Amino acid sequence: MSEFIDVCSTLDVPDGSLRKRAIDGREILLAKAGERYYAADNRCPHMGGDLSQGTLEGTIVTCPSHHSQFDLRDGHVLRWTDWSGIKLSAAKLLRRPGPLKTYEVKTEEERILVRFSD
Ligand code: FES
Repeated sequence: MSEFIDVCSTLDVPDGSLRKRAIDGREILLAKAGERYYAADNRCPHMGGDLSQGTLEGTIVTCPSHHSQFDLRDGHVLRWTDWSGIKLSAAKLLRRPGPLKTYEVKTEEERILVRFSD
């Protein structure tokens, strides 16, 4: 199992914010919702939108590109784009809805540490 990696200060990720960090060649998303910090891939599973430019409501991140939504607690899909009807059906055929990859997070002495699982 991989080690936790120090990614930044807790002060860099205020409550309700989304931040992007480049760590070991990965682009990751950091978020704080309430007392907890979350980490995930920064690129949207739909078409690679920059999630750090999206919005955060509780633990739900919304992609700025086509407004897919993911729960940062486990990455599951809440909404696959904000399209409807035949456009949504076509979008699901072209790219099946898939979860956002999330990572384990802990804090130590005001530092955020992330464990990458692959
Ligand atoms: S790229 Fe994120 S919803 Fe399309």
